[in-house]
Amino acid sequence: MSSKSHAKPVEHKTVIIRVKRQDKRDSQPYWESFEVPRRSNMNIISALQYIAANPKTTDGKATTPVVWDSGCLEEVCGACTMVINGHVRQSCSSLIDKLSPDNEPITLEPMSKFPVVRDLWVDRQRLFDDLRKVKAWVPIDGTHDLGAGPPIAQDQQEIAYPLSRCMSCGCCLEACPQYTPEGSFVGAAVISQVRLFNEHPIGKVLKDERLEALKGPGGLSDCSKAGNCVEVCPKEIPLMESIAAVQRQATLYSIRKFFTK
Ligand code: SF4
Ligand code: SF4
Ligand code: FES
Repeated sequence: MSSKSHAKPVEHKTVIIRVKRQDKRDSQPYWESFEVPRRSNMNIISALQYIAANPKTTDGKATTPVVWDSGCLEEVCGACTMVINGHVRQSCSSLIDKLSPDNEPITLEPMSKFPVVRDLWVDRQRLFDDLRKVKAWVPIDGTHDLGAGPPIAQDQQEIAYPLSRCMSCGCCLEACPQYTPEGSFVGAAVISQVRLFNEHPIGKVLKDERLEALKGPGGLSDCSKAGNCVEVCPKEIPLMESIAAVQRQATLYSIRKFFTK
């Protein structure tokens, strides 16, 4: 029989959640702390739901419910992304047990690159506008049934599938030193989507327009290739490969354009 002792983990009944709050887009942020009952396997969203139902700070002051955004609750929509203990990630897949094994307080902040709507809820519209700017879609003629699309070779599928997992969460933009609220750089997610649609058998009809959109200010030349983006992507998208691939496409496009002027 094993002589190993099975020490019972210390059980903590509550955890302190510190939230950086902001009442509206241009107002000053402030911090509030909340004491939340712990349950094993609870995620940050569950803690926020408790706070919303019991909006009282650790010093007993009644306050307004904390606001956040979420959708799928399974790390697919990207809406619940925030900065948790200093790291950008999805709050639906962030577990209290892992973030605070020894009952350390947990800090929650909104992403810093997008405007705050309220508290932890940010407006990611700039990201969607940039996707529109580079025509990140497969153009189809009408909404009627067009039948099966052209076949895509297995090796091409293996490149496309990881890129298609992007959920526009904004983690790569939060980590990027070149992506700033004042700047115009589109960031790694948008460049990677250009790669995805430029390689698609139908999507590539817009390839030149996408590369043209990435040639100017805010485009490829703004990337300093530090690689912070790839470190934080929750979908492990090969963003540096995408940036290099689109840069090669842009160079060939410029050469072709020069000789066909
Ligand atoms: S490589 Fe660096 S500068 Fe370029 S998108 Fe990624 S984090 Fe931003
Ligand atoms: S590339 Fe990754 S980090 Fe960036 S928006 Fe897409 S899923 Fe999020
Ligand atoms: S709620 Fe959709 S990713 Fe978290």
